[in-house]
Amino acid sequence: MTTYRHLFSPLRLRTVELPNRVVVPPMVQCRPILSAEGLAWYRRLARGGAGMIIVEATGVPLFGKELTPRTLKPLVDILHSHGGAAAIQLFPIPFGQTADLNALGTADVQVMVERFGLAARICLEAGFDAVEPHGAHGYLLNQFFMPDKNRRTDRYGSSAEGRQQFALEIVRRIREAAEDRLLVLYRHTPVGEAYGIDDSLPFAERLVEAGVDVLDISPARHLVPADRAEPFARALTVPVIAVGGMDDPVAAEEALAAGRCALVAVGRQMIADAQWPAKVRDGREGEIRRCVKCNAKCYGHIRERKPVSCAVWKTDEVLAAVEDGRP
Ligand SMILES: Cc1cc2nc3c(=O)[nH]c(=O)nc-3n(C[C@H](O)[C@H](O)[C@H](O)COP(=O)(O)O)c2cc1C
Repeated sequence: MTTYRHLFSPLRLRTVELPNRVVVPPMVQCRPILSAEGLAWYRRLARGGAGMIIVEATGVPLFGKELTPRTLKPLVDILHSHGGAAAIQLFPIPFGQTADLNALGTADVQVMVERFGLAARICLEAGFDAVEPHGAHGYLLNQFFMPDKNRRTDRYGSSAEGRQQFALEIVRRIREAAEDRLLVLYRHTPVGEAYGIDDSLPFAERLVEAGVDVLDISPARHLVPADRAEPFARALTVPVIAVGGMDDPVAAEEALAAGRCALVAVGRQMIADAQWPAKVRDGREGEIRRCVKCNAKCYGHIRERKPVSCAVWKTDEVLAAVEDGRP
């Protein structure tokens, strides 16, 4: 039996102890996160025993409205129920909406920065261990970083430093709002003309100076499987998450053992079989219901705005969990 010593070694980050190196990355699932179905989705993921679960991209304008410390607490309790840390990804606008970065006024950007601070404070009070600004995948925050997209002439554009400013202010604001009591993750995509790895490394260093505890390196989907984390893991003092096709336990263990990353995110495979961490840990890999990377009912359903499920499920496992009265 293969033992996965690195995959199942704990990691202490500030005051948070992750029981292992498996992270469930943020995945939009097209159910309201606080509905019975949304909570069932996250309970199913939590039961797998991952070291940290990152709740899907969540718009900062929702905080202080439907998302408050009181309403979020049941979700946080579910995430913690099997020993993993509870994190949530923060998105500058409601997820699914778009904004033209060049049309936003300087004051509009500053309002978004403030909202990240408020959201972080609410997450802290709800009991979350970590928040993650979504700076990846070509969405708004990532676009600010891109010279071919960002034509702004104010402090949020003009130069490489200007294009990093929005992200850096968000991180500093979160740090201010949550002091040292919340981990700050940051998801970045280092893929593209003039914003690849070479340009991203100095940016990542500035993010760390601004208060980022963990860098989550997520390549664009068409590059999966591709582990772009290594140069960041080698250069930075903070742990780096590798994501994208990291669901082969042997390859994941090797990546950790070789220092190419400190954590591995396992996404679609957790949708296919949320018991992946427990089965790998217990030597039951043969029982894993494999993700076939068809993308039919995960990415496919997002495109159709239908609740995410999985082509390899025999029944809808989320509905079954709700009908069973769990939670
Ligand atoms: C259904 C679905 C929803 C996703 N939603 C998000 C999201 O909210 N935020 C994000 O940064 N990435 C999102 N992703 C990307 C994943 O976090 C992850 O980076 C990607 O699935 C690659 O990892 P994998 O090969 O282990 O699946 C999503 C992916 C899927 C399949």
